[in-house]
Amino acid sequence: MIIISVSNQKGGCGKTTTAINLSASLASLGKKTLLVDLDPQAHATYGMGIHAEKITGSMYNVMTDQAEKKKKFIEDILVPAGEGLDVAPSHILLSTIEQEFTNKEESVSRLHQILHSLSFPYDFIVIDCPPSLGFLTFNALRTSDLVVVPVELSSFSLMGVDKLLSMVELIRVKLQHTPKVLALPTMVDMRTNLSRHMMDQIRESFGEHVLSTAIRQTVHVRESQMKGVPLLRHCPKSKGTIDYLVLAQEIMAKTLPESEFAALTPPKGREVVTNFLRDFSVRTESASEVYIVGDFNHWSVSEQSRLWEKEKGIWQKKVFLGPGKHRYKFIIDGNWVTDPSNDHIEPNPYGGVDSVLEIT
Ligand SMILES: Nc1ncnc2c1ncn2[C@@H]1O[C@H](COP(=O)(O)OP(=O)(O)OP(=O)(O)O)[C@@H](O)[C@H]1O
Ligand SMILES: [Mg+2]
Repeated sequence: MIIISVSNQKGGCGKTTTAINLSASLASLGKKTLLVDLDPQAHATYGMGIHAEKITGSMYNVMTDQAEKKKKFIEDILVPAGEGLDVAPSHILLSTIEQEFTNKEESVSRLHQILHSLSFPYDFIVIDCPPSLGFLTFNALRTSDLVVVPVELSSFSLMGVDKLLSMVELIRVKLQHTPKVLALPTMVDMRTNLSRHMMDQIRESFGEHVLSTAIRQTVHVRESQMKGVPLLRHCPKSKGTIDYLVLAQEIMAKTLPESEFAALTPPKGREVVTNFLRDFSVRTESASEVYIVGDFNHWSVSEQSRLWEKEKGIWQKKVFLGPGKHRYKFIIDGNWVTDPSNDHIEPNPYGGVDSVLEIT
């Protein structure tokens, strides 16, 4: 069971959108998934089309330390939300929960105990955190294997991220628990200078701990939230749907044992993307810009095709590739070169050669 928190104290950076659509994508890829709404605003609950009259209780009843009659087991409050996907809904009362606990030490591991006492296992649990770094977020981080930090590229939302990282550090020191932290660029519109600038800032703050997938801006997000369904049910062809499916696969590649990920077979009859993550890197001293272009990105030079300098002289990028034959080249400060670490080259129609990678 892999537990993922979606957290950033900055409001409106895409936490709930990510929690809903990552959960739905994991489920559509055949992974049994539970979405836990831990935000008293209950946006993930509403975003999944679950309203008060449909629920028998909320995470408040599960987490509460109050009298027995209010208490419920997590299994009692789950709402089925499609094949392989359940939701543990939230309620505004969750905002009052911290004051209920007399034993503060024990209370920080409350969610951890609850999720590990589930009577049936999930492959993934995704937790939507509130936009604050209080008791609820601490509980979520404490039980998580991975923390996804959405960073909105259309505003200066890196403010406060250092506080989240300090909280993760505190959990490491106090509770000897070290979740992996990965930044996720959201609401990306690479045509704007601000997005390009923010992408550089994210890399400065998170180094290599930035997910390769970025979530593009699309009107379908708002439409699907109003309808109360995940993107893939609202508009399977939306770029948002594709981005979240690719994100789910990247997260699976980063968290599941390799054998399990390789054995992944997309369920029949479902809209899925079968791309796999490949690492490209090139060593080049004193370059200032390196791109990878190929048939997989229409040979286009853009922020999405730019490599980042992992360490002095070593440039790297992870790219999702589907099965088949792919031609590509690096562009180092304007010069087109083949991949020095790949011997497979083939002539191109322009009298030169391309690097070739075949994925079966
Ligand atoms: N990829 C996207 N394209 C367009 N709009 C988006 C995208 N992602 C999120 N939004 C919009 O941005 C707003 C904030 O998104 P969301 O509710 O997911 O953020 P949040 O971090 O959960 O907010 P809060 O901090 O209040 O919990 C919403 O109106 C949502 O529709
Ligand atoms: Mg939210």
